[in-house]
Amino acid sequence: MAGLLWVALLLLSSCRGSPTGRTQTLSEDLTSNSSLPSAGESQPTAAPTSGLTSTTNETSKTPEEEEGPPELECPPLGLESLRVKDGQLRASSFKRRGLGPHRGRLNIQSGIEDGDIYDGAWCARHRDKNQWLEVDARRLTRFTGVILQGRNSIWSWDVVHSYKVQFSNDTLVWKPSMNGSQEAVYEGNKDAETPVLAVFNTSTVARYIRINPQTWYQNGSDGDICLRAEVLGCALPDPKDVWQTEPTETDDQLDFRHHNYKEMRKLMKSVNDECPDITRIYTIGKSHGGLKLYVMEISDNPGKHELGEPEFRYVAGMHGNEALGRELVLNLMQYMCRQYKRGDERVVHLVKETRIHLLPSMNPDGYETAFKKGSELAGWALGRYSHEGIDMNHNFADLNSVMWTAIELETDRSKLINHYFPIPEKYTSEDAFVASETRAVISWMQNIPFVLGANLHGGEVVVTYPFDMTRDWAPREHTPTPDDSFFRWLAAAYASTNQVMSDPDRRPCHNTDFLRSNNIINGAAWHNVPGSMNDFSYLHTNCFEITVELSCDKFPHASELPLEWRNNRESLLVFMEQVHRGIKGVIRDKDSGEGIADAVIKVDEIDHHIRSVADGDFWRLLNPGEYQVTVTAEGYRPSSRTCWVRYDLHPTVCDFHLTKIPQQKAKGRSLSKDLQLRLRQQRLRKLRIATKAINRRRAAAAGRRQTVR
Ligand SMILES: *[C@@H]1O[C@H](CO)[C@@H](O)[C@H](O)[C@H]1NC(C)=O
Ligand SMILES: *[C@@H]1O[C@H](CO)[C@@H](O)[C@H](O)[C@H]1NC(C)=O
Ligand SMILES: *[C@@H]1O[C@H](CO)[C@@H](O)[C@H](O)[C@H]1NC(C)=O
Ligand SMILES: *[C@@H]1O[C@H](CO)[C@@H](O)[C@H](O)[C@H]1NC(C)=O
Ligand SMILES: *[C@@H]1O[C@H](CO)[C@@H](O)[C@H](O)[C@H]1NC(C)=O
Ligand SMILES: *[C@@H]1O[C@H](CO)[C@@H](O)[C@H](O)[C@H]1NC(C)=O
Ligand SMILES: [Zn+2]
Repeated sequence: MAGLLWVALLLLSSCRGSPTGRTQTLSEDLTSNSSLPSAGESQPTAAPTSGLTSTTNETSKTPEEEEGPPELECPPLGLESLRVKDGQLRASSFKRRGLGPHRGRLNIQSGIEDGDIYDGAWCARHRDKNQWLEVDARRLTRFTGVILQGRNSIWSWDVVHSYKVQFSNDTLVWKPSMNGSQEAVYEGNKDAETPVLAVFNTSTVARYIRINPQTWYQNGSDGDICLRAEVLGCALPDPKDVWQTEPTETDDQLDFRHHNYKEMRKLMKSVNDECPDITRIYTIGKSHGGLKLYVMEISDNPGKHELGEPEFRYVAGMHGNEALGRELVLNLMQYMCRQYKRGDERVVHLVKETRIHLLPSMNPDGYETAFKKGSELAGWALGRYSHEGIDMNHNFADLNSVMWTAIELETDRSKLINHYFPIPEKYTSEDAFVASETRAVISWMQNIPFVLGANLHGGEVVVTYPFDMTRDWAPREHTPTPDDSFFRWLAAAYASTNQVMSDPDRRPCHNTDFLRSNNIINGAAWHNVPGSMNDFSYLHTNCFEITVELSCDKFPHASELPLEWRNNRESLLVFMEQVHRGIKGVIRDKDSGEGIADAVIKVDEIDHHIRSVADGDFWRLLNPGEYQVTVTAEGYRPSSRTCWVRYDLHPTVCDFHLTKIPQQKAKGRSLSKDLQLRLRQQRLRKLRIATKAINRRRAAAAGRRQTVR
């Protein structure tokens, strides 16, 4: 188990000790030899990085010099986030219902087809200069600007090139937005996707605002007036607010803002400083661009696996531009640290009984790209991919195909395996297109016996559960796992406690109404995703994982963050608590009492097995019920017993004591039996060797670039 060592070693030593120098330690870390782009595996930060002469000037910039997002004087009203309701949007005319004013929201996505009720913009019915989209702010607001986007459609090209803006307090008298003594004409879009910001020459106080297109793309009979928009404005204080539009936010005093890489690290360090006894920061590798993938561990015994204590993970920011998950995970670590210190029973219980790992940013390169554009101007896809253009949620080894092909070809059912699928050979080759970040996460999955996890995304509001990939490559098709009922329970646990999802009056984000399925859906029934992290996790490891799509807006404005924390706080806690459902136990040698690793735990009628981990402990997530459980291990006689799972949040303890099969009888038979395990380990070794070779090549290339300079 030498592999376990390196993770244990990754304790970020510079984040500990050093009584005086927080900034000192941090700046040291900033200027450390971090330009070495080592993927997959990483070394302790304090270890000498042999033979590398690297400090680049990029890393020695002061924060002031850094390119940050543009400062907006006022926040968005919330056309994109849906804080602005459909009833607050009106238009001079609209082409049809699917192109109504309620569709004129920044970044709204149409379905694949045009022509349904979910098209990708507001489009006017007429083509003249008298068309407008109107927003009722429902209170006096100081308007400062507009962000405009064209129509989202595969089939039509509709953009507004220029527009005027008018303001009113009563919708009867309108005042134009001025530029000195002239009516201002703002520059609109050149393409349909890039958001274009217009800041008003002078801000105007009013309740209503109209966007009034002047010129637009026209080509013969093509070219409607279509747009998606966001409006920037500061609400004026209103003592008699009849609409009560501002919900009371949250009492938790957390650091509600967007944190770029350095700020994220600083925040994590401050949590670690505040709660050194229950937290530990470690890294699991580096991004392609050389940024570290930091993890915050929260546990009563940070740094080690405890017998019988399940391991949990949240992973955010796999798509770098889906920024809300990152902030929620950062909020969660702050919250848990504080509540633990306050003696909050629920949090204390979680910390004592669970080992929690929080990875706020799986794709830090992508995040930095989106962050530099800012929450309103990053558009829909900027920063989604890795530095090399890889979508990490398609980048895990496709084990579904391996499994389904085997099922088709193998007539002897007893020879089929249903868990711990080895990674395919070609995935382990050096030229396999596997992102550094994916390699790091796979390595992490090997080193920590995770039982449950979720990865946090954005751009929709729904919880999806595996499989994510359809059989036979159908674009969408319900494709359940053998653990479907538990996965549905898990998804429902998050969705039903989430304040946005559980609101029966919420409108769909884009082009799918998930309310009808209670905000949960089988991933493959939504759309086919081969190589997803959820499917890989389930088929390759013991860990059950689901995806949470947190918000319609992938990158909400910072002003939305307290509300989003309030919407998700309970769900984040409830979901972690689900790791304590089902059965758990330790599998031991009857005579020596020693734990048996890699024993197979079979539950009757569920065609998916679990394996015990290094000390013989295991967790089998299950809904309440009575189960016949059988344990087999190489060299031991199988053992069966009945285990009851109850409704409360405590796992049923089901220990097993196995009897050794006398040596001579066991020979030969057992060898073939755990061929699967051997192959799995062999492929992982290959993947690790390939990753190391790639890292060495990159480091050498980086070294050469340095020398040339
Ligand atoms: C960077 O690496 C060089 C050479 O290994 C070493 O001398 C130097 O101290 C390192 N700098 C930091 C900040 O760790
Ligand atoms: C780094 O920046 C400093 C000051 O800005 C400059 O003097 C130095 O030459 C730069 N070094 C490199 C390697 O570009
Ligand atoms: C709307 O009313 C406010 C407060 O009376 C006033 O300051 C503002 O100029 C008015 N705006 C317009 C466009 O008339
Ligand atoms: C507003 O427009 C006028 C006329 O073009 C110009 O002189 C003035 O500088 C502008 N003010 C701002 C704040 O942009
Ligand atoms: C404002 O006026 C200036 C000077 O005439 C012009 O250059 C600029 O494009 C105008 N801006 C808008 C938004 O109308
Ligand atoms: C305008 O429409 C014609 C005929 O449909 C097409 O051939 C041409 O490429 C279009 N021009 C532009 C700039 O889209
Ligand atoms: Zn995503």
